[in-house]
Amino acid sequence: MIRTTPVRDRSRRSVGTRAGRSTHHASPDGGYARRDADPTGPTPARRLRLLHPMNRYALPDLRYDYGALEPHVSGRIMQLHHDKHHAGYVKGANDALEQLDDARRKSDFTRLAALERALAFNLSGHILHSLFWQNLAPKGAPRPEGPLSDALVEHFGSFEAFQRQLMQTASTIMGSGWAALIWEPVGGRLLTTQIYDHQSNLAQAGIPLMVLDAWEHAYYLQYENRKAEFFQAVWNVWDWQDIGDRFAEAREVRIALVGAEG
Ligand SMILES: [Fe+2]
Repeated sequence: MIRTTPVRDRSRRSVGTRAGRSTHHASPDGGYARRDADPTGPTPARRLRLLHPMNRYALPDLRYDYGALEPHVSGRIMQLHHDKHHAGYVKGANDALEQLDDARRKSDFTRLAALERALAFNLSGHILHSLFWQNLAPKGAPRPEGPLSDALVEHFGSFEAFQRQLMQTASTIMGSGWAALIWEPVGGRLLTTQIYDHQSNLAQAGIPLMVLDAWEHAYYLQYENRKAEFFQAVWNVWDWQDIGDRFAEAREVRIALVGAEG
């Protein structure tokens, strides 16, 4: 058994709290607006601190042991994936921010396009991996319940049809990427999508709810070239409570495109 990773807080974070995800969705600079602002939400000062250009991203702890997802995902893969690959994206995002800040101070924007590409790649990698870890749980339920279950039936026809579609999305990625279930807030619908690398091909304003890492580093050590087996095995460890919580919160997001809604 792989050793336990240090855990700062194993408790499930509450939805819509000051420390939860809503602070990001509620940020006026994030392009989203909540329909009903939470009066207990972040203060202006906290928002300013969140948006400070020198703010640093951090590698979140796993909420379970490296080996807790075995036999479906090996502890060694989880250890390398989290401690090396994910940590690398966190460092890359912070490095890009620092270099952008330096460029502004020097008024030297000759590398701006490259720095923005680096930030988009690494920050998206950080966000997707953070989401992936929280989408998973050692004893996953076989399928969702409640509003998410109803919505999957509404938008895909059945849970099995959604499952087949997401598997096809994952297995047909060319190169490195992710398969994702997203909430598209303009049309108000669930969609699956391929994400190329970490940052491309996602519809603007689409909110990832559930992501499946299809990069080789996610499975090759255990499954070698049999990636379809990995994509199948992951269905034993989805945390449907987490995904359902994200769906409930994403449905509240409005981006105020009057006349464009589906
Ligand atoms: Fe990954």
